[in-house]
Amino acid sequence: MKGVTQEVIADVRSRANILEVVAEHVVLKRTGKEHKGRCPFHDEKTPSFHVNPDKGIYKCFGCGEGGDVFAFIQKYRGIDFIDSVRELAHKYGVQLVESVEEKQQYDRRTAILLLYQQASEFYARMLKDPNQGIVAREYLAKRGVTDEIIERFKLGYAPNNWDSLLNYLTTAAHASPVTLAEAGLVRKHPERNSHYDLFRHRLMIPIFDEQGRVIAFGGRTLGDDQVKYLNSPETPIYTKGQHLFALNLAKESIKARDAVIVVEGYFDAITPHQYGFTNTVATLGTALTEAQAKSLVRFTESKRVFLAFDADAAGAKAVERGSETLNTIAEGIGIDLRVIRIPGGKDPDECLRTQAQDGVEAGSESFARALEQAPALIDYQLEQAMAAGKTEGHLGKIESAKRLVPILAQMKNAVARGEYIRQWALKLGIREEELLSDVGQFRRDNGLGPRAQSQWQRKPSQSQARGSLRSGYYEAEQRIIALYLTSRDDYDLVQRAMADEELITPAHQRVKEALDGIGSLFDTVQDLQYKLMDRLAPDKEAATALIEVILKVEEVRKQNAPIHVLLLQLRVRLLQERASRALAKLRTMLSSAQDDSEQAQLQSKIFELQGLDRNLTVISPDSDPSEFETLRRKILTAVA
Ligand code: UTP
Ligand code: MN
Repeated sequence: MKGVTQEVIADVRSRANILEVVAEHVVLKRTGKEHKGRCPFHDEKTPSFHVNPDKGIYKCFGCGEGGDVFAFIQKYRGIDFIDSVRELAHKYGVQLVESVEEKQQYDRRTAILLLYQQASEFYARMLKDPNQGIVAREYLAKRGVTDEIIERFKLGYAPNNWDSLLNYLTTAAHASPVTLAEAGLVRKHPERNSHYDLFRHRLMIPIFDEQGRVIAFGGRTLGDDQVKYLNSPETPIYTKGQHLFALNLAKESIKARDAVIVVEGYFDAITPHQYGFTNTVATLGTALTEAQAKSLVRFTESKRVFLAFDADAAGAKAVERGSETLNTIAEGIGIDLRVIRIPGGKDPDECLRTQAQDGVEAGSESFARALEQAPALIDYQLEQAMAAGKTEGHLGKIESAKRLVPILAQMKNAVARGEYIRQWALKLGIREEELLSDVGQFRRDNGLGPRAQSQWQRKPSQSQARGSLRSGYYEAEQRIIALYLTSRDDYDLVQRAMADEELITPAHQRVKEALDGIGSLFDTVQDLQYKLMDRLAPDKEAATALIEVILKVEEVRKQNAPIHVLLLQLRVRLLQERASRALAKLRTMLSSAQDDSEQAQLQSKIFELQGLDRNLTVISPDSDPSEFETLRRKILTAVA
């Protein structure tokens, strides 16, 4: 953690009073134990932003933002966790314990970030320079890019010299050419002992991280260079395939519209922003990676992701570049992946800039419609595959079926797959059994059976977690964790009872592990809560889950039932969830079972589990505790 140790975190937390820290940025009024103000993270008239100094947390009941003092600083200043600790440590006089190596690494990153910021400011200035920037400004004008967009995206111009940036940064920033070469801004001449600018006579497009810091550049040629876009190399601050272009500008809009548009190119993101599609991000010439997809879905609740690739190439590309990967990512993270079909073989940038004429509608209208009518990726792929060759006649039918098989085979959900096979067999005019058997064969040949799924695919998606049944177990887990925090006595009891229990939601399980890690090394539950927050602070997801739990402690404390009764109820709920998940999985396996003996085996497992599940319903606080334990062991063995 780059010198930020548990001790440092705890020390900073004890000195940096959340009330004091927040009050520097928000006007707070006191009402009882709470202090209220207008949320700095969203626009509001009536205050719904609460700070609770006893608990050491803040929470906005308007926009849902919440966390501890570090979370507040992170969010307010747009920095990461480590930097929030550093900042508060510095302010409250806490010494950081850092190894020399960690310190060097941090300093190096900070130095490179600063150079990119300075370079970006330099390029922006050159674009505005009356003499230097002429060609680039004309180019932007020709592409219809407005001044407002130039500002928003901090576009710039790299002059047509070998050493403009080199000279500027070595004098203004006192950076050495070697450092600049390390930062990927200049290159060393292979023979001569000299350096030269990487970007020359190019329109400069800064790539930002999520917090809006410049971490790399894309430079579009303004001349006849073979390389249309030259991109910064990977550096300690930039890894390809990790970042998404324009995410910093799009994230609020993604949240607000609960959907995100993913495009490939720089201008395919810039132009949509200009035309009001501000929830657009770009992958920059690659297919969507898993890291990128995961970073996206944090902002959309319904996980609606629209892919907008060039119309002609898209189908081919998506298949070529692993539609399988895309589908796997989508199913794994639970994304609702759709494809925007842009008419006329245009990319989003060209489409949007199309002016309305007689008989031709404005590009922004066709884009909006394509967005509204975007089919699911799988439907799109099947359509494309059909269109890729002839479908008439006996041979045509066989050929089309061949093209469909690999796509159908990739569908993980057996029921949906069966349904698709039925529909497409009908459409093609071939026998359903034939298509079914070809798809089955393809799945076997390519190891696409149930066991071929990777671990993370089985993770329940957030959208599932919000279903009524699912949210039941989610809430149950929250209550279990809250029980640890109600009193010292409760803690001991819950800790013992939960010793070998595992929570289903990964973030909750991590909270539990932190609790187990602390053991009995605390005085009051308040003390325990801070210790927990310290441990979990670097793990944003678990830290947020903890805050949600802390807000429930009071309510749980008020319940009248004895703690062991509450706990039993909640543990039964968790077991039910495990059983129902296992049952769902078994049923899916059953529907794609290959032979009779496998089917029979699965069927008997299902019966067994259903029986155990029924027995769960008769467990009550009055029944012998060993009854629950026995049943629990049986169910866990059955679902394993
Ligand atoms: P395209 O070749 O489709 O270009 O590359 P474009 O985005 O339509 O470019 P304009 O409209 O002519 O300016 C798509 C994306 O692939 C990456 C860039 O991110 C580009 O926007 N790319 C392409 C490169 O990184 N280098 C290249 O040489 C070409
Ligand atoms: Mn283009």
